Amino acid sequence: MKPMNSRFVKALFAAIAAIAVLTPAAPRAAYPDRPITMIVPFAAGGPTDVIARIVGESMSRTLGQQIVVENVAGAGGTTGITRASQAPPDGYTIMMGHMGTHGAAPAVYPNIKYDPVKDFEPIGLAAGTPILIVARKDFPAKDLKAFMAYAKQNGSKLNEAHAGVGSVSFTTCTLFNSLVGVKPTRVAYRGTGPALNDLVAGQVDYMCDQIVNLVPQIQAGTIKAYAVALPQRSPALPDVPTTKEAGMPEFQVSAWNAIFAPKGTPPDVTKKLNDALLKALKDPGTRKRILDLGGDLSNEAAQTPDGLRKFVEGEVVRWSKALKGAETAEAK
Ligand code: MLT
Repeated sequence: MKPMNSRFVKALFAAIAAIAVLTPAAPRAAYPDRPITMIVPFAAGGPTDVIARIVGESMSRTLGQQIVVENVAGAGGTTGITRASQAPPDGYTIMMGHMGTHGAAPAVYPNIKYDPVKDFEPIGLAAGTPILIVARKDFPAKDLKAFMAYAKQNGSKLNEAHAGVGSVSFTTCTLFNSLVGVKPTRVAYRGTGPALNDLVAGQVDYMCDQIVNLVPQIQAGTIKAYAVALPQRSPALPDVPTTKEAGMPEFQVSAWNAIFAPKGTPPDVTKKLNDALLKALKDPGTRKRILDLGGDLSNEAAQTPDGLRKFVEGEVVRWSKALKGAETAEAK
């Protein structure tokens, strides 16, 4: 066969290239065209999981595709968030982060594999989650003052449950313990969902946890609630005093849970996700489920991507100051 003349070959390639340029790229299928995975960095049944499933359900209706929760627990939530931060930025992997993973974690994990501000596209705040001090129902103290006196006497004999170094329960109880002046045995769980089961069973003595995990058990009387770390009582638990009323005005702290996507997720995708989140947070049924569990939906500024970015920047600074010098290494 006679060799092809080079000018013809060049013309052929030029024609192919021109056709390629002129042929518009296949439009990216309208997002979303398949289910979306939401990584929850703690065990199922805990506060972050509860918030993720409530807003995820409503967002699925708006997006027309299922949001499927995948629980990836470990290292106070940083295992799941690290994995999510490295997922393809295509909108099909998002995550529920919180005050621990995107606020306190850099202060307790010097070698953390992500930057809470730089490595994520913020979608929006899902809910504020006030903190309560709770104990097993037969704990030998009738109120917070008696608890503090007993704790000072019995220090390391006490077992405090938490969800891993850097988690909300660990971080807030680090502050609480230093204010009380107690060094308990700190028992790590993969989330405060399983920790609560052991508290109800009396296997551990106390914990600091997010209200949305606790309301049903407190209302059922299966655990004791000493105080809520807010300036005013929670409408979901009107009988539970504030820390100020209970004699510890200096312990004021509230947590939060928010949705993030990996860095580089396209703006039209993050907008769709934020629109679906805002619609969920305005939906009367969704709001009622969160408010009945004591969740706080008042911080509307942080429900926007820019607002959440600024909020996270402030939280990283706040916790690096608050935890400076605090004993954050796990006792056991
Ligand atoms: C959970 O969902 O288990 C919590 O958010 C854990 C924590 O940070 O205390």
